[in-house]
Amino acid sequence: MKAVICTKYGPPEVLKIQEVNKPIFKDNEVLVKIISTAVNSGDVRVRGLVADGIMKLIMRLMIGFSKPRKAILGTVYAGVIEDVGINVSKFKKGDKVFGMTAFNFGTHAEYTAVKEKSYISLMPENASFDEAVSLIFGGQTAIYFIDKVRLSEMKSPNVLVIGATGSVGTAAVQIAKFNGAEVTAVCSTKGKDLMEQLGVSNVIFYDLEDFTKQSVQYDFIFDAVGKTDKKQCQALLKENGIYKTVGGFEYASESHEQLEKIKNLYEKGRLKAIIDRKFPLDRIVEAHEYVDTGRKKGNVIINVFES
Ligand SMILES: NC(=O)c1ccc[n+]([C@@H]2O[C@H](COP(=O)([O-])OP(=O)(O)OC[C@H]3O[C@@H](n4cnc5c(N)ncnc54)[C@H](OP(=O)(O)O)[C@@H]3O)[C@@H](O)[C@H]2O)c1
Repeated sequence: MKAVICTKYGPPEVLKIQEVNKPIFKDNEVLVKIISTAVNSGDVRVRGLVADGIMKLIMRLMIGFSKPRKAILGTVYAGVIEDVGINVSKFKKGDKVFGMTAFNFGTHAEYTAVKEKSYISLMPENASFDEAVSLIFGGQTAIYFIDKVRLSEMKSPNVLVIGATGSVGTAAVQIAKFNGAEVTAVCSTKGKDLMEQLGVSNVIFYDLEDFTKQSVQYDFIFDAVGKTDKKQCQALLKENGIYKTVGGFEYASESHEQLEKIKNLYEKGRLKAIIDRKFPLDRIVEAHEYVDTGRKKGNVIINVFES
């Protein structure tokens, strides 16, 4: 099968398309033909070994010293079950599924084998493969942080989402709104149309004004792009207000329930798929270059097979 091999840590050019063996699936695994995957901020971070100070060493220890131990990167997929192991009961050949492999990586390829009990679910019934795969990375991260602060238990919470136009930000805005929040978004003026599309009317454009100088206070401030710290936002927090950032030492963990939530929200029309650009697998280097800019709006999709 065709796969993208990360030959060493470095710029996008370290990625090479190669022919490798199709994965052999175990008795408790399913073989997925990947129709769509995505290049997320996490993928470019791994490829470039982007981390500060001691975190760089920790990253090397976790994912490989001089190059990624798992040569095929990519963590999200939407596709069709091509075959199932003899102990698999939840899925059958032909099922349309979507999921996340997390630290097992391996989705920037034509096929992947995953455990039936991993983060895999039937795709939202009304989603295309591109739409389904675009929901996962930002959706799971946003749900993790929003559930962590128990937003659904707050009464009409006032929420500030900083970095509202990224993969995590676009999901956070929508999921906070679903939980009854009054959302204010912080983004650049380039995000104006996108915020309209997501039904957010309170928007502060950071390239026009300093959002930390406003008089409004919030129950929850979520920095979905990791550009602030709590001290900077302290004056914007209500007395018992909570601040969370994706840029600190708290890492979102994946769960099967998050994937089910994403599926439900999408089927109910409460979560939109935000897709910025699409590239065929052969143009993976360009996709990484674009994600490296840190300016993408929503998600960047890789089309592996035609759907
Ligand atoms: N802790 C965790 O568990 C966890 C999980 C997932 C992701 N992350 C981290 O979260 C960050 C965001 O991830 P992502 O996938 O959403 O990234 P992304 O999609 O690449 O986000 C980029 C977006 O952020 C906007 N942006 C850039 N600078 C900004 C600023 N100063 N203020 C407000 N918006 C700004 C950009 O728009 P403009 O250029 O128009 O401003 C762009 O739309 C990444 O650093 C990632 O590594 C952490």
